[in-house]
Amino acid sequence: MTDRYAVIGHPIGHSKSPLIHGLFAQACGHTLRYEALEGPLTPADGFERLVHDFRAQGGLGLNITAPFKLRAFALADERSERATLAGAANALKFEGGRILAENFDGIGLRRDIEVNLQCPLAGRRVLLLGAGGAARGALLPFLHAGPAELVLTNRDEAKAQALVAELAGRGPLRSRPYAALAAEGRFDLVVNATSASLSGQLPPVPASVFSPTGTAYELAYGKGLTPFLKLARQAGVRGVADGVGMLVEQAAEAFAWWRGVRPATTAVIDRLTVPLE
Ligand code: ATR
Repeated sequence: MTDRYAVIGHPIGHSKSPLIHGLFAQACGHTLRYEALEGPLTPADGFERLVHDFRAQGGLGLNITAPFKLRAFALADERSERATLAGAANALKFEGGRILAENFDGIGLRRDIEVNLQCPLAGRRVLLLGAGGAARGALLPFLHAGPAELVLTNRDEAKAQALVAELAGRGPLRSRPYAALAAEGRFDLVVNATSASLSGQLPPVPASVFSPTGTAYELAYGKGLTPFLKLARQAGVRGVADGVGMLVEQAAEAFAWWRGVRPATTAVIDRLTVPLE
């Protein structure tokens, strides 16, 4: 029987995961089937049933996207530390009768920044905007990279403060409100992990946080120059990037977790990249 994998989300129509995993399988010489499954919003346990049915039919692993990442995390039997801190799973593996949960978003982001964009985080000043699932997933991988400091900023300050408290002792992490950022000087890397760009909005970040020799990274992808990236450009930043590389890198991590081989990513990123301008 062909090895089966899938991605579940709602809506799922525009997911790039089947294309990405198809290209990985081809490059690695693996035969597998990877589908996109529309996750049902009703009945209340429709998502869980779909996961269990997929497993019962011999499925080996799943990618999970919005809005099911928290429910995927909840239904697992075992969870990695990364997934636990993010409170969300973006990949599941069925192994020995158990469901294992992982979250590769943050490690994919770090790899895109450090390897593909050649912007090492060690010793650098990093500013992370947002305190939702996307930002939570990035915190541990960023701290493991050894930045000089990691500043977390969120509109709802209490959420950022709670995350900093949760990670006490794990690295140079602190939270600052948006209003205090003007006094923080320049950062080598500014990452927009808010969902503001999805509605064409700009987080209230001052242009003074950007360094012309630094990098501005937008987690959303395929949306061109978002208001955040435009602000960075206006501030003279040459290194601006969207999340296409992160998307491919997190997929490569999942492929490696499921199949034991990490596929090359450069050609796949090139194929999926939509020019920012
Ligand atoms: P995700 O899973 O994509 O991270 P989420 O958990 O809903 O989504 O979190 C959305 C994040 O974007 C939050 O940090 C939110 O800030 P608040 O917690 O203060 O609501 C942030 N966000 C959304 N719209 C924003 C905007 N216009 N400006 C700044 N932050 C915004």
